[in-house]
Amino acid sequence: MCGIIGYVGEKPCTAFLIQGLKRLEYRGYDSAGIAVREAKSSSLFEILKAGGKLENIEKLLSETPKNGQIGIGHTRWATHGKPNSINAHPHRTGNTILVHNGIIENYETIRQGLTAKGYTMVSETDSELFGHLVEEELGKGLPFEESVRQAFLLLEGSCTIVVVNEKWPDRFVAIRNGTPLIAAYSKKSHGSFVASDAGAILDHTNEITFLENEEMVVGFKDHFDVFDINKTLLGQKPIDRKPVVLDWTLASMEKEGFAHFMLKEIHEQPRAILDTLDNLVDREKGEIKFSQIESMMTKTKRIQIIGCGTAWHAGLVGKYILESTSRISVEVDLASEYRYRKPIVDTETLVVLISQSGETADTLAALREAKKHGAMTLAICNARGSTLTREVDFTLFSAAGPEIGVASTKAFTTQVLILMMLGQYMASIKNKTAHVSDHSLIDIPMLSKLIHKIEDALQIEKQIAVIAKKYLDSNGFLFIARGKLFPIALEGALKMKEISYMHAEGYPAGELKHGPIAMVDESMTVIVIAPRDELYEKSISNLQEVKARGGRILAIGNKGDQQLAKLSDDFIELPFEADWSDTLLAVIPLQLLSYYTALYKGADIDKPRNLAKSVTVE
Ligand code: M6R
Repeated sequence: MCGIIGYVGEKPCTAFLIQGLKRLEYRGYDSAGIAVREAKSSSLFEILKAGGKLENIEKLLSETPKNGQIGIGHTRWATHGKPNSINAHPHRTGNTILVHNGIIENYETIRQGLTAKGYTMVSETDSELFGHLVEEELGKGLPFEESVRQAFLLLEGSCTIVVVNEKWPDRFVAIRNGTPLIAAYSKKSHGSFVASDAGAILDHTNEITFLENEEMVVGFKDHFDVFDINKTLLGQKPIDRKPVVLDWTLASMEKEGFAHFMLKEIHEQPRAILDTLDNLVDREKGEIKFSQIESMMTKTKRIQIIGCGTAWHAGLVGKYILESTSRISVEVDLASEYRYRKPIVDTETLVVLISQSGETADTLAALREAKKHGAMTLAICNARGSTLTREVDFTLFSAAGPEIGVASTKAFTTQVLILMMLGQYMASIKNKTAHVSDHSLIDIPMLSKLIHKIEDALQIEKQIAVIAKKYLDSNGFLFIARGKLFPIALEGALKMKEISYMHAEGYPAGELKHGPIAMVDESMTVIVIAPRDELYEKSISNLQEVKARGGRILAIGNKGDQQLAKLSDDFIELPFEADWSDTLLAVIPLQLLSYYTALYKGADIDKPRNLAKSVTVE
């Protein structure tokens, strides 16, 4: 889950590397480092690395500036070895310097082999081993690129590595299997780049080449070449790969006046919803533009939705939507569980994979399991060119724009929006062949209204800021709701846990009495979502039970709901309408509540401890 970057060109590149690493820091921030070298033949690569965040490298650079026209950089999410400066990347072995993202699974075997040959390892990392392997191949007289390729073939596991060498200071070699890698040539910055994702180099170009698994790229100052790693490079012609032109703007990579990316992204939700609708809806015809998946949808007899974390919560909302509109049975799985439970999948199963990044290792593993059994596969994804979108049969793209805060917000709401559209589309297909009487309709006017409702919901920010302070001394939070809003309770609890580090759990309101109510006392805050829908009265009864046991109640309900207001210590009013859009409305105060709780606790909101944005290890 680390972030890696490389540049070779005519410009001084330290600032490019640091800026790129800042954009990649969401992938890991346990330690960081760079290696740069001047183009002069007498120069050598200079390495700067340190434990902790990238700002430590910036401090070191301000004391001892370093520059060069070729360089690599790394920001780490630790797997093997503590996040100190020795284990930080880049790692040097002889003339070889490298940065690595991923895990070398046969680490122990390789380490023993190298130790037996008399090599000594400086760090505790698996990454350092690769430098020794490259040096071994170089020792056989192979050219640099071919040595990297041969060494890479000895590795097991998902890895992406960028390597430079003192003897070949005009190029970098980057190689991918499993974890993401992009390459680009920038006319503006006169050089070639590689990076873990496009955001890192968006200042230089938006024409991005996405590498496939088992491909490598050799970058020079005036071009780069892509090769297949399964054939010798001696005589291999470069693969002809057209770049994808991304429509991400530079502003989308900045905080634009907000204190944190998370807050900016919460406020971007009306725009993200509008853009996603514009992409997927033909407003003139009043139609959802899903004709390319019509045959897939018609054939579907069973639906399985798969995701991790927030994407899984979106999938749970999707179950309520799709079962209601299509009357097809829907299972929802956590990706990390799916492939080990021997799922029942066949050619009439539609597997919907939800992922913001499209690079989550567990989700990709689940996809491959489903494909092995002949399933039809559909992704809901925010990242064009990502691995998921290249391996599924079809992708419905959200237009949330880059999501940089580790806590997912706008990706979630756009994922649920797409599931609503899918639900509506499936209902319309079903209606062609059979009458579906009991689906609750999702129509385009309803979806369009959503933007304004979410804008309204965002107006409660000030109120939430006050409420969050009041509940800071809570021993824990129980988020409860019923029906389609239960996954929103789970999402509220996840947001609270991951950025404020406070204990929080999501429960169906009706389950409280089967266990969790034992935790309720005056130090426990119960957050309930209770719009006036068909389950309202039941939720009120559950709240009475909490009240009787002294729990503090923060309720989210319909505007003007006096009964709920009286029952609760604090009441947040939203324009609920007892339709599917309630799910999207209800999540807004929960996102804001976790944000302000984390803010008052002084937590690092965009980079919560121990987490990374894109989890590319299983
Ligand atoms: O990129 P993905 O949507 O596949 O990521 C899945 C989860 O790792 C992600 O949603 C995670 O749970 C977030 N940090 C939640 O805010």
